[in-house]
Amino acid sequence: MKSELVFSKYYGEPEAAGLNNYLNNDKGYDALKKALEMTPEGITQMVKDSELRGRGGAGFPTGLKWGFIPKTNKPKYLVVNADESEPGTFKDRAIMNYTPHMMIEGCIISALAIDAHIIYVYIRGEFVREAEVLEKAIEEAYSARYLGNTVCGKDYKLDMVVHRGAGAYICGEETALLNSLEGKRGEPRIKPPYFPAVHGAFGCPTVVNNVETLAAIPGIVREGVDWFKSFGREKNTGMKLFCVSGHVNKPGLYEKPYGYPFMKLIEEDCGGIWKGRKLKAVFPGGSSSPVLTAEELKDVALDFDDLQAAGSMLGSSAIMVMDDSTCMVQVAIRTAYFYYEESCGQCTPCREGGKWLLDLNRRLESGNGKMEDLDLIADICDKIDGKTICAFGEATAWPLRSLVKKFRHEYEQHILEGKCPFGGKAPSWEQ
Ligand SMILES: Cc1cc2nc3c(=O)[nH]c(=O)nc-3n(C[C@H](O)[C@H](O)[C@H](O)COP(=O)(O)O)c2cc1C
Ligand code: SF4
Repeated sequence: MKSELVFSKYYGEPEAAGLNNYLNNDKGYDALKKALEMTPEGITQMVKDSELRGRGGAGFPTGLKWGFIPKTNKPKYLVVNADESEPGTFKDRAIMNYTPHMMIEGCIISALAIDAHIIYVYIRGEFVREAEVLEKAIEEAYSARYLGNTVCGKDYKLDMVVHRGAGAYICGEETALLNSLEGKRGEPRIKPPYFPAVHGAFGCPTVVNNVETLAAIPGIVREGVDWFKSFGREKNTGMKLFCVSGHVNKPGLYEKPYGYPFMKLIEEDCGGIWKGRKLKAVFPGGSSSPVLTAEELKDVALDFDDLQAAGSMLGSSAIMVMDDSTCMVQVAIRTAYFYYEESCGQCTPCREGGKWLLDLNRRLESGNGKMEDLDLIADICDKIDGKTICAFGEATAWPLRSLVKKFRHEYEQHILEGKCPFGGKAPSWEQ
C-alpha cells in the first residue's frame, strides 16, 4: 500500500512552522503559483477529479461543495473550520502548530476557486498556542505578498482573519459556527434555507471547510490528481491523519493512506493494547460514531466506505480504543454527559433526550436500573435521531444506541447483580 508523509513529516519540530522552512522543505507556495495560472473552474475541477472528501466529519466531496457557490455579485467567503472539538480529535491542531503555511496556501487556492476575498479561520478558543502560531504565519504570508492587496502580484485582494471561539462544541457545526462568527449565539441554523453555499456568513455564499481538507489542496494542485489518487482507493483518496487515543501502548497521531487496515494500525503502529489486555471496542470516528466491537473490526479498512459498511463512520478519524477492563455503561455515561452538556438546547429531543440518556445510564451503573431501561434508551435514541435541527442529535443517539445494542449483556449484568461488574461507580460531576 503506497504511503508517504504529507502532513506530518515535521511534527514535533516547532521551527517547521516558519515560512522559510515551508518554502525549502515542502515546495511551499509552488502550488499557489500554479493555481494562479489556472481558471477558478479549472481548480475546482481538479479538486473534483482528485475525489478529495471533507475531513471535518461528514466526508462530503470538496470539489462538489465548491461547485455549489452561485456566480452572483454578492461577496463570497471561505471559512476554515478550526474548532476541532470532537472528543478524541487532535489532528487540526497539529497542522496549525507545525505546518500552518500548508493550510494557508490551501486556503488561498480555495479562495481563488470560489472567488472569495476574505478567509475567516474560526479557531477553537482553547487553542491559544495554535492561534498564535497561525497568526504569525499569516503575517509572514502578508509580508511575502501571498495575502493582501495582491496575491503574488496578481490583482486580487485577499485577506485572512483569525476569529477565536469561546469553547462550545456546537460551534464546530458549520451553521452554528457562522452564527458565532457573526457575533450571534452559537446555535445551528435550519437547513433549508440556510445552506452555507447560498445563505452563509453575513447572508452571503460561503464555503466551510475543515483545516485538514484545506491543507490537502496544495499537494493536489502541485503534484497532480494522479499523485493524490495513488494513495488510498476509489472515493477514499489521499493520505490521512488518524488520532489514536485510549488503551494502546503508543497513542498518537498517525498518517496513513485511506484504506489502511484498522487492526494493523492498532496492533503494529500503536504497539497493541496496553497492559497485555485484550481489545474490547473502539469509537472509530470520535464519540459521535457508533461503537464497534473487536470482532467487528477484524477486516475493516480505515476509510469512509468501509467503516460505513461496518455500521459506523470515519467521522473526524478519532479512534478511541477501549480494553476489556472497560465498563461500557461508564462509557455511555461519559458520552451522554458530554452531549447533555454541549446541546445548544434549541430542539426538545436533543435537549431533554440527552438528560434522560444520562440519568438512565447513571441509574444502570449504580445497580438500580430496570430491564425496561434498555429499551427505553433505544427508544429515546430513536426519538432524537433525524428529528433535530442539526446532526448533533445523531451524534448523541448513534453512540448511545450502539452501546446498548452491542453490549446489552453487560447492561443486563449491572441490573442482575445490582452493581457494576467492573467495580465502578457512576461518575458524578454534576446532578
Ligand atoms: C455537532 C457537530 C460538530 C462539528 N464539529 C466540527 C469540528 O470541530 N470541526 C470540523 O471541521 N467540522 C465539524 N463538524 C462538521 C461541520 O459541520 C462541517 O461539515 C465541516 O466543517 C465541513 O468541512 P469539510 O467538508 O472540509 O469536512 C461538526 C458537525 C457537527 C454536527
Ligand atoms: S440538535 Fe441539539 S445541538 Fe443541534 S440545534 Fe438541536 S438542540 Fe441544538
